[in-house]
Amino acid sequence: MKVFRFFLCLALLVGVVGWAYAYFYVKDRESTRTSELIAQIEGISGDATRGEYVAAMGGCIACHTHVENGGELLAGGVPIETPYGTFYSPNITRHDAAGIGQWTSEEFVLAMSVGTSPNKQHYYPAFPYPSYSVMSVQDLVDLKAWIDTVESVAEPAPEHDLTWPFSVRSGLLVWKALFFDYSRTMDLNDRGNYLVNGPGHCAECHSPRNLLGGLSARSLSGNTRGPDGESVPGITLQDLSEWSIQDLELFLEVGITPSGDFTGGHMSDVIEYSTSLINEADRNAIARYLLSETNNP
Ligand code: HEC
Ligand code: HEC
Repeated sequence: MKVFRFFLCLALLVGVVGWAYAYFYVKDRESTRTSELIAQIEGISGDATRGEYVAAMGGCIACHTHVENGGELLAGGVPIETPYGTFYSPNITRHDAAGIGQWTSEEFVLAMSVGTSPNKQHYYPAFPYPSYSVMSVQDLVDLKAWIDTVESVAEPAPEHDLTWPFSVRSGLLVWKALFFDYSRTMDLNDRGNYLVNGPGHCAECHSPRNLLGGLSARSLSGNTRGPDGESVPGITLQDLSEWSIQDLELFLEVGITPSGDFTGGHMSDVIEYSTSLINEADRNAIARYLLSETNNP
């Protein structure tokens, strides 16, 4: 009994110390990053036309519009099946109560870059903010300006339906401490790298994940347990050895592979709402990045 009590106390102590550590770690990183971002927002104004293009770079529409159900643009409600339960994407139209109509640009930038809501709740990584976190503040402020022009929808999206303990949002504190990289930065002049690893969030599907849903390594080496249980092929330089730049450009525009097949599953949504809508120069930048040595882990 004594031994049991000893181990129980030890386990509790480790739990409390771990939680406190995660709390202070996350708080510290988050406030540093927040001040950096706020300093950058100063004096930036948003351009809705550019913002619409940023929405295409980020594939926001595919996740936040329930096309199958005839849902309105950005009104959310799209179910995302995961091993932890079903997420429903929120309504991100400018409706005050059901959407994000009351948000400031600053709050929007923080949600996208540090994964924290205006009332300081942590977001689930089913929202790919760990990729969006490197997006430029200009891109994000433009994106917000576009969202502000989209028709407001009064209907809120359903609540997530997750299994315990994943349903406890505050547990995301530990997830962030373990897996969220607050200091990831990106050279904005390296356009292909930026599009793939920032807004394009290709790694969110094409990288393997550990049991807690952390991206084990941001390599694009494939994932047998992708969204909705789908298997996602690797797209590293090695995996794409049979592809030319032109093959990739054509694939990203219309979804046809070098062997003449049309791609299916989630990749067809990525093509429809994202890579077919960006310009040729950006598709070329993505193709060049994928076939570069940087993409050879
Ligand atoms: C893979 C699907 C997916 C994609 C792609 C995606 N989102 Fe989301 N988004 C979600 C989910 C799921 C949530 C809810 C997260 C939570 O509850 O913690 C969310 C939450 C949000 C929120 C917070 C809303 C609120 O009410 O607190 C905003 C803002 C948002 N997304 C904007 C965007 C933008 C802008 C893009 C494109 C750059 C985007 N999302 C792309 C799935 C996605
Ligand atoms: C929502 C998940 C998801 C995202 C995000 C995603 N992909 Fe995919 N991708 C897939 C799936 C699933 C397949 C396999 C489709 C099939 O079986 O036809 C695929 C296939 C591909 C292929 C074909 C590989 C082959 O060997 O046939 C390429 C190239 C590709 N994706 C590139 C990208 C790029 C570049 C991005 C980022 C801009 C990206 N993908 C983002 C899910 C995704």
